Amino acid sequence: MSASGGSQGSAPATDNQKSSTLRLDDKEHTLPVYQGSIGPDVIDITRLYGDTGYFTFDPGFTSTASCESKLTYIDGDEGLLLHRGYPIEELADNGNFLETCHLLLYGELPNAAQFEDFKQRVTMHTMVHEQMHRFFTGFRRDAHPMAIMVGVVGALSAFYHDSTDITDPVQCDIASIRMIAKMPTIAAMAFKYSIGQPFTYPRNDLDYASNFLHMCFSVPCEKYEPDPVLAAAMDNIFILHADHEQNASTSTVRLAGSSGANPFACISAGIACLWGPAHGGANEAALQMLEEIGSVDNIPEYVKKAKDKDDPFRLMGFGHRVYKNYDPRAVIMQKNCHEVLEAVGADKDPALPVAMALEKIALEDEYFVERKLYPNIDFYSGITLRALGFPTSMFTVLFALARTVGWIAQWKEMIEDPDQRIGRPRQLYTGPAKRPYVKMEDRK
Ligand code: CMC
Repeated sequence: MSASGGSQGSAPATDNQKSSTLRLDDKEHTLPVYQGSIGPDVIDITRLYGDTGYFTFDPGFTSTASCESKLTYIDGDEGLLLHRGYPIEELADNGNFLETCHLLLYGELPNAAQFEDFKQRVTMHTMVHEQMHRFFTGFRRDAHPMAIMVGVVGALSAFYHDSTDITDPVQCDIASIRMIAKMPTIAAMAFKYSIGQPFTYPRNDLDYASNFLHMCFSVPCEKYEPDPVLAAAMDNIFILHADHEQNASTSTVRLAGSSGANPFACISAGIACLWGPAHGGANEAALQMLEEIGSVDNIPEYVKKAKDKDDPFRLMGFGHRVYKNYDPRAVIMQKNCHEVLEAVGADKDPALPVAMALEKIALEDEYFVERKLYPNIDFYSGITLRALGFPTSMFTVLFALARTVGWIAQWKEMIEDPDQRIGRPRQLYTGPAKRPYVKMEDRK
């Protein structure tokens, strides 16, 4: 297949002059090529099956753009992450999480009045229906908080009937705000339930991150004021996780939403996908790995295991489908990690020297260099979250909390697209061809 011509306009532009030619069974087929504002051009294969009778085969979506989006851009080779054009470093250094939420949802950073209005709207939705408390008590105390999140977030659709009509933009907006506002409350309740403490109601005089720390760490018998350094670190972690283009959980949300499912159900599907150790569960797995390694002396043994093809062990927190350079979020997270450890006096956390030595050894090892395996965000986030006071089982929950805005913004973008259709991938079938039913008595 070859591409030719000069392209103009933004993707997918119908007047695009660039096209590619595919030769199949001695016939040539012209496929349009679209150009994004940045990033690789894409070949439009939507008519391929109709025109040729062929499907394309790309099981891990390594070369497939599943949608058009204006939200987030990643250049994996450069280690670049942009939200609506703004570099993640600048958002993390100068902004706050709610600003980033506004940016992702509505396309622009808010001015002062817009920010106050947005903050007010989110703050007014922080409580959950009182009856939702009963959902929590239905779970075993030792349930993984992600299991609780999947169930309780899905159950939101049973409570907020007035914001499930996806054809009504006002309802969609309310659902978006509700989700951003209630996720910290639900996450904190899952945490409190797991440690046997009473649920703490939100405090609307606090900012988003401080309120979350309050709901997680205050108890009725003691006065609690969130530490501003830790609240700033928490807010920073939320910004770093806010969105990440068409990753597995976001694609799950989009696919679930493409059928017209309500937004609460779609986000619940995203949470389920995020739970896996190859995705959001990696921060939990990375810390467990650092604990298992135990000391700097044991690192070579684990690096050897990670390189052994017959050993399923992988260095958790290393490697990324898209980043073939340093994950820019990992750089910010490493700085954040040191600040938090210093603030809480946990710089003696034995996992930290192991992490730093492992990072250095792996970055110099030929195996990791050749495969461009760099630390990703999860490598340092586990240590940071532990220093903030969270048990490992809560790590992925915090990721889900922060990613909710990305999921919902991507879902909104999808349902607002007039050309949106249900997602329905095809397959390469390799099972038995048609065969007649065999009665049980005749089977061998
Ligand atoms: N340790 C050892 N080897 C690795 C690792 C690792 N962490 N990651 C990839 N490799 C090797 C892999 O064995 C393969 O080697 P070879 O070419 O010799 O067969 C090569 O590198 C390419 O790996 P891949 O599995 O084809 O890469 P992928 O794009 O399918 O997987 C990944 C990406 C993130 C699932 C993978 O790197 C991984 O499992 N990392 C550990 C889990 C992790 O940290 N996940 C968090 C991702 S970042 C958070 C997020 O955005 O969700």
